[in-house]
Amino acid sequence: MNKQREFGIHLTSTDIFREYILPEIKDVLYKYTWIDLFAGEGNLILPILELIPKDERVSFFKEHILLFDIQL
Ligand SMILES: C[S@@+](CC[C@H](N)C(=O)[O-])C[C@H]1O[C@@H](n2cnc3c(N)ncnc32)[C@H](O)[C@@H]1O
Repeated sequence: MNKQREFGIHLTSTDIFREYILPEIKDVLYKYTWIDLFAGEGNLILPILELIPKDERVSFFKEHILLFDIQL
């Protein structure tokens, strides 16, 4: 069985995230930890970093992002 079928690898486009999800959460990014337990390439989380000043991204990632995937 190919990996895509075996692991259900159907990734969300980051454009979808930027258009529909980011506007809803942009004002509370520092208030929560953003978790994807089936992260794939991180398309549902990593675009958040685009709204974080470059010099804060590493610490923001450490303090507010958790990504898991069976393939990581
Ligand atoms: C449908 S993709 C979604 C990826 C990402 N959340 C997105 O929306 O682009 C599902 C991901 O779940 C992972 N996965 C499948 N079974 C898993 C498991 N039991 N535990 C953790 N990750 C798993 C796959 O490797 C795949 O990357």
